Amino acid sequence: SHPIIFDTDPGVDDAQAIAIALRHPEIDLLGLTTTYGNVDIETATHNALLLSELAGRDIPVAQGAAGPMVKPRHPAPAHIHGANGLGNIELPDVKGVKDPRSAAQFIVDTVNERPGEVILVAVGPVGNLAAALQLDPTLTEKVKRVVIMGGSIREGGNVTPVAEANMFNDPHAAQRVLTAGWPLTLVGLDVTHRCVLTQAHMQRIEAGQGELGKVLAGSYAFYRDFYREFLGIDGCCPHDSCALAWLLRPELFTTAPGHLSVVTDGIAEGQTIFAPEGRGFIQERWSQTPLVEVCLEVDGEAVVEWIADTL
Ligand code: BDR
Ligand code: CA
Repeated sequence: SHPIIFDTDPGVDDAQAIAIALRHPEIDLLGLTTTYGNVDIETATHNALLLSELAGRDIPVAQGAAGPMVKPRHPAPAHIHGANGLGNIELPDVKGVKDPRSAAQFIVDTVNERPGEVILVAVGPVGNLAAALQLDPTLTEKVKRVVIMGGSIREGGNVTPVAEANMFNDPHAAQRVLTAGWPLTLVGLDVTHRCVLTQAHMQRIEAGQGELGKVLAGSYAFYRDFYREFLGIDGCCPHDSCALAWLLRPELFTTAPGHLSVVTDGIAEGQTIFAPEGRGFIQERWSQTPLVEVCLEVDGEAVVEWIADTL
């Protein structure tokens, strides 16, 4: 099974992915690390603790970045995930407490306990991964793989015409993380926008997940309204679950090797720029950053079936 640390800003689609990480028999969830993004950091940590409890699990939850590394923090978008991150549904109290360590320290400790084994799956702004690299630059050789939900290669953005939310929310951290030189896969809007989780899928999930299912279905209803109103889609893109789908069902995805950069300032901030491997560019810098892998295509139907089957 895959030992993973799941770095998240829950978040409706984060909650779906956390549920998969908690339930999938081939995932060994070592910890949840939280970041601001869809919600403020305290809410993110609360939600991570709650989801783990509702699944009857006692998973370490370590709190991380309260804002971006460089740019000013903007308020969380309450109309997408709700002010409480879970569609404004009423939530039970949380009993557990967070790990005393920071998210970055938790990542450093856990990876060093199991060098070569741990997979970091990050589905929010990536400040915690950047901070962990700062604490221990040798992580690049000790992490098995980094899987990131974020960015966009050909699809355009969802926050600006060119920027995806997780990249936009901390472009400086993203630039460090995507060029750090560790084995990395980017699961971006090119594939997540091909996956639509419908009401019918969610009914199956609700039926199968008890207390956790109620929270997933209630928050889904709110997220679905946003998709209907702003995007004209009947259903929701399960962005963050796609990172786990890639890990467990890579055959459903088409990927390509190349070099990534993130625009950190100006009108295109948060844009991910992809230079395919082997394509000669006159400016050599485009082949000098480390090679990574990006997802370009997906069998979206199969991914959402996999999500519903898992849950
Ligand atoms: C990403 O942004 C967040 O709103 C979602 O949780 C997902 O991680 C999609 O762009
Ligand atoms: Ca997220």
